[in-house]
Amino acid sequence: MSFKQIKLTHISLKALEMGHIYKYPIYYKKEGKVYSILIKEGDKFTSNTQEQINSHNITDVYVLDKDHDQYEFDTQTYLEKIVKDDSVPISLKSEILHEMAADVINDLLEGDINTQKIKQADIVVSDTVNLILDDPKAVKAMLKVTSHDYYTYTHSVNVSTYALGFGSYLKFNKEQLHMLGMAGIMHDVGKRKIPGEIINKDGKLTDDEFKIIQKHPSYGVEILKELGETNQVLLDIVEQHHEKIDGSGYPHALKGKDIHPYAQIMSIADIFDALTTKRSYKGALKSFEAFNIMHNHMKQSLNNKLLKKFMSFMSQ
Ligand SMILES: [Fe+2]
Ligand SMILES: [Fe+2]
Repeated sequence: MSFKQIKLTHISLKALEMGHIYKYPIYYKKEGKVYSILIKEGDKFTSNTQEQINSHNITDVYVLDKDHDQYEFDTQTYLEKIVKDDSVPISLKSEILHEMAADVINDLLEGDINTQKIKQADIVVSDTVNLILDDPKAVKAMLKVTSHDYYTYTHSVNVSTYALGFGSYLKFNKEQLHMLGMAGIMHDVGKRKIPGEIINKDGKLTDDEFKIIQKHPSYGVEILKELGETNQVLLDIVEQHHEKIDGSGYPHALKGKDIHPYAQIMSIADIFDALTTKRSYKGALKSFEAFNIMHNHMKQSLNNKLLKKFMSFMSQ
């Protein structure tokens, strides 16, 4: 049975729970824009479903737009259960958290934006922070699932992971970690307002295009404020993640101590991810190559103490 032109939202395959009865249909992509049903409304995810996934090599699954909220609710319940379950390996927990964070961010960047989306991000970050505080192996496992293909949403998951991992290395407390995780997820949310042709342009931007890109930190603050965000630290991190210690950054050319320390952390995580992921016009650098560039060519613009600590954290 095939369907054409129905409104579907991409969901995370790993977030589907074996044994769960789904109150809504789940689809997979067959070819082109043709979708087929994987799980019928009211049916269980069984080992047969899993076999079908394996034999058809299914990687992308979808729900109807109208069912997305229910799906979010189901996955959050599943996630909470999984994070606490000692029999689930830390690698799988990390993969599921990563996929769910990617889903939430993709939605924040491309879907309709509302306070519900912020709450969803909050839940994924809380689960991640709990996992990091519970299991000393969590950060390593999470770093293993960072993606090296660049998309704005995977970039934001990676930046959030680096910032959280680094924060835990610096012995930050639960609230501080939560702040870093949320800021990592939200830092580029202002890119919603930048035309896709500029965001996805292969190669060098013109001066005018760069001026437009430079607006994304302030756009991010605007969007978050419209959604009722009042936490000044979160807003500062979003606004200041492209500021540089020597005043060469944007949007306000702030210097040194005028840049919030968490924004300085975000900046290091942001640059490190940009260097170590693949773009259509450049390959992905290895960690040590990225460190060489950051250490040798960005000395004036980054907080050197933090950079050294970040390098030790990543080289553990
Ligand atoms: Fe940015
Ligand atoms: Fe970024």
